[in-house]
Amino acid sequence: VLLTAGPTYEPIDPVRGITNLSSGKMGFAIARACRAAGAEVTLVAGPTALATPRGVRRVDVRTAQQMHDAVAAALDAAPRTDVFVAVAAVADWRVADPSARKLKKRGADDVPKLELVQNPDILAAVARRADPPWCVGFAAESEDLEANGQAKRAAKGVPLLVANIGHATFGRDDNELLLIDERGSRRLPRADKASLARALVAEIAQRLPPRRG
Ligand code: CTP
Repeated sequence: VLLTAGPTYEPIDPVRGITNLSSGKMGFAIARACRAAGAEVTLVAGPTALATPRGVRRVDVRTAQQMHDAVAAALDAAPRTDVFVAVAAVADWRVADPSARKLKKRGADDVPKLELVQNPDILAAVARRADPPWCVGFAAESEDLEANGQAKRAAKGVPLLVANIGHATFGRDDNELLLIDERGSRRLPRADKASLARALVAEIAQRLPPRRG
C-alpha cells in the first residue's frame, strides 16, 4: 500500500510559504492500520511532526511537486503496489517563481504580487497510469459531502472516495467519514482516527479485486 499524508508547503521565499491546517493524523492512522492488517506500507509525508508508524517506510517531502515525484518513484520501484490512498491535503497552487532571498517590506504601500500556478494532481496522475493500483481519494469539503464527493470521485476517476468536513477534522483526533463508491455512500460515524482508519482498511479490503500478477 502506498499513501500520501499531511499538508504540503509551497515556498514564497526562504522563510515563508503557503500551507494548510492538515496535521497528517488521518493518513498516518491509515498507514498504521494497513501495516497492522499485514500490508507492506510506504508513506509519503508532507511536513508534520508525527512519529513514523512502526514497520512503515516513510519518505518525507515538502512541496506538492516533490510529493508527486516521490509517489511516481515509489510506484516505479514497486509496480505491483495494490492500493494507493491519497490522504494528503495537497496545495492546489504554488508560487510561480519563489524568491531566493527573503522578500523585504520597502515602504508603507509595498505589497508583493504573488503569481500562482497549479500543482500536479497526484491522485489523478496515479489513476491515469497504465496499470494503476486501486485508488482511494479523500475530499475535504465544507458542505454537501455526498454531492461534492460523487462529483470528485468521477472527476478523479477513482473507485472509492472518502469525504469529510475539512475544518472539522484538520488537527483533531476524531473525525467522521462518508465513503462513496459506484453503488452509493456509507457513513462511518464520528470516532477516533485510529478506529476510523481500521474500519476504512476493512472497507478497502472488501472492495479490493483479486491480487494482481
Ligand atoms: N490531490 C492530489 N494532488 C493534488 C490535489 C489533490 O493528489 N494536487 C488528492 C488529495 O490527496 C485527495 C484528493 O485529491 O485525495 C482531493 O481532491 P481535490 O480535488 O484537490 O479536493 P479538494 O482540495 O477538496 O478540491 P476542491 O478545492 O476543488 O474542492
